[in-house]
Amino acid sequence: MKVLFLSPGYPPEMPFFVRGLAAAGAEVVGVGDSPAEALPPMAREGLSGYLRLGHLWDEERTAAAVRGWAGARGVERVECLWEPGMFLAARLREALGVPGMTVAETVPFRDKESMKQVLDAAGIRTPRHARARTEAEIRAAAERTGWPLVVKPIAGAGSADTHRADGPADLERVLPLVRHVEEVSVEEFIDGEEYTFDTICSGGKVLYFNHSWYRPRPLLARTREWESPQTLALRDVDAPRLLPGRAMGMKVLEALRFRDGFTHMEWFLKADGEAVFGEIGGRPPGARSTDIMNFACDFDSWAAWGEAAVKGRIDQPIRRRYNAAIICKRASGQGRIRRIEGLDRILSSFGEWVVAVELLPVGAERRDWRKTLLSDGWVMVRHPDLGATMEMADRVGTDLRLVAG
Ligand SMILES: Nc1ncnc2c1ncn2[C@@H]1O[C@H](COP(=O)(O)OP(=O)(O)OP(=O)(O)O)[C@@H](O)[C@H]1O
Ligand SMILES: [Mg+2]
Repeated sequence: MKVLFLSPGYPPEMPFFVRGLAAAGAEVVGVGDSPAEALPPMAREGLSGYLRLGHLWDEERTAAAVRGWAGARGVERVECLWEPGMFLAARLREALGVPGMTVAETVPFRDKESMKQVLDAAGIRTPRHARARTEAEIRAAAERTGWPLVVKPIAGAGSADTHRADGPADLERVLPLVRHVEEVSVEEFIDGEEYTFDTICSGGKVLYFNHSWYRPRPLLARTREWESPQTLALRDVDAPRLLPGRAMGMKVLEALRFRDGFTHMEWFLKADGEAVFGEIGGRPPGARSTDIMNFACDFDSWAAWGEAAVKGRIDQPIRRRYNAAIICKRASGQGRIRRIEGLDRILSSFGEWVVAVELLPVGAERRDWRKTLLSDGWVMVRHPDLGATMEMADRVGTDLRLVAG
């Protein structure tokens, strides 16, 4: 099978997916906007050809350029696992006449209002919601959703420009903050825990799935700098509290007629046990969540995706042995990282249960915590027992400190 892979070098997980696809027997060619020499070696090794387009995001021109190039190479599929490229990938499929998600089928995965309309029609519980373009429309929408509510971009990512408002006066505070966003979704605020339901599908069947738990809720993680946000892939995916969310997610896949590839769903679990759907992406979760899936099952989720895409099955055994968490760290202070405190203690007390560490080195400029989910670095831990995993993750949160100044 000849596959065109969009943006094989970025984000950093992509070279692993290229490798997985090639390992499953596909001949992979890449299209991206970076020079071939700048591609990570793993991406280059997995590709048998690469087309660099400086105008990648100009869909019209890219479709025209790819038609001749990929057509001549007999490309049969177009894959993209990065949210901003989903529409472009669909356009290229249509231009090349190859199977997979079309532009129309992609819309509900990129537009949060279209998504909820399809899901509402299928009887899936979503927050009360409305689309709004102007301040007047946002105020009018608030009348229908009630308080508290959330205002967020129609095509948001990473909780950017997402705000909670507790009442009419609070909404006036929020309005100027979203003035630059062309179109927003106004939603009933759902109070509860937040979980994911991530899947690898083939032919409409779920071949692998994962439930992760966000600690704390992403909106809180995004508004409190002192947090060390955790994503925790759960070992016991059959725990009763997860079942309503999974059943709902299965209905979502059906309602959106999703057939092949990775999905990343988010859902809320209210204190009364009700599950409410959050959103779906037709791509894997980012921010190294695929790594924690790997550590939870001792397998290779990137290769599993490749196997599913090429063979319609996953050859690796899926054994759920561990809970696995990534904990992202934010330095205190501004400027360059001066010292890292507490790492030795953590490594010596948790030993083999710390499976990966990637922190900015001393001397590096710290990052803008609002712009990156991975912040100034991260630690991954795993353990068969959930309580032990949570305790280690919390200790990494409190006892490991990056100090900038
Ligand atoms: N209706 C809601 N009720 C409560 N919290 C919400 C609601 N909508 C969004 N949030 C909060 O804001 C976060 C971001 O919202 P959402 O997931 O819709 O946008 P996103 O920016 O696409 O997310 P991602 O970070 O997954 O890319 C959610 O994880 C949740 O914490
Ligand atoms: Mg989200």
